[in-house]
Amino acid sequence: MIAVANAVTYCGARPVLVDCDPATFNLDAESLPKKAGRKTKAVIAVHTYGHPADLGQIAGFCRKRGLRLIEDAAEALGGSFQGRALGTLGDAGIYSFYANKVITTGEGGMVVTDSRALAERARFLRDFAFSKERHFWHEEVGYNYRMSGLQAAVGLAQLERLARLQAARNRNARAYRDALEGVPGLNLSHSSQGHANWVFGAVVEPKFGISRDELRGFLARQGIETRGFFIPIHRQPAYQRMFAGERYPVSEFLGDNGLYFPASSALTGKEIGYICAMVRRARSSR
Ligand SMILES: Cc1ncc(COP(=O)(O)O)c(C=O)c1O
Repeated sequence: MIAVANAVTYCGARPVLVDCDPATFNLDAESLPKKAGRKTKAVIAVHTYGHPADLGQIAGFCRKRGLRLIEDAAEALGGSFQGRALGTLGDAGIYSFYANKVITTGEGGMVVTDSRALAERARFLRDFAFSKERHFWHEEVGYNYRMSGLQAAVGLAQLERLARLQAARNRNARAYRDALEGVPGLNLSHSSQGHANWVFGAVVEPKFGISRDELRGFLARQGIETRGFFIPIHRQPAYQRMFAGERYPVSEFLGDNGLYFPASSALTGKEIGYICAMVRRARSSR
């Protein structure tokens, strides 16, 4: 997701890309040592679509190399890794409360950390880096990344609903899985313990008979909106020059062939049944 590279670029650092692990669709822990160089300061592990990245191996590598680990749990609120909440295993974790997330405040998000110093630093930077000693004095360039009191009030009310919203997402994922398991050429491997089930994704492989885009077109004609997986960052016009000549075959394959299905926590079992029946019909329509 482009925000991950942008966050690095905004602070004057250079993002380094690592390909995806085909099993988790997240950062490939095996490729990490090859990409972490002398200047590397931190690793961002993104729990894409709510699926936990391989934090065991990634955190181990960061410890060994003295690197900071930031978890991007924007899509993974409610998920876990070995029983611990996603977003809480690294030096810092972030969540997004944008309108399409598990809980929302319209816009906005949250940083969590165990470190007092980091929390203090984040509070300082989000509020124009106002000096504590002197009014309207700024020794650094800060940001206006504040959440308003109104949004925070909505967020607190949303937190009370988190368990219910999460249960609905888990129910959706189970219903999709039960109905689509075993469809030839539809790879649903993107699932494991602790998945936050923000969305339910699938990768369309050649055995499915029609392409991902043909499937999306067929479903659109039945009134079913789907989204393709993220287009890899090195292919984005904003970053093409920075990553010219670099190849990330797994990300490219996922970007070209992955899609996810409607994911609202308000979906009914009947609606999911219809969507899955149409996926099967698309296959036999070739
Ligand atoms: C993985 C990931 N990281 C970061 C963000 C950015 O979050 P926000 O929109 O709250 O800035 C998003 C999505 O919005 C995301 O999906």
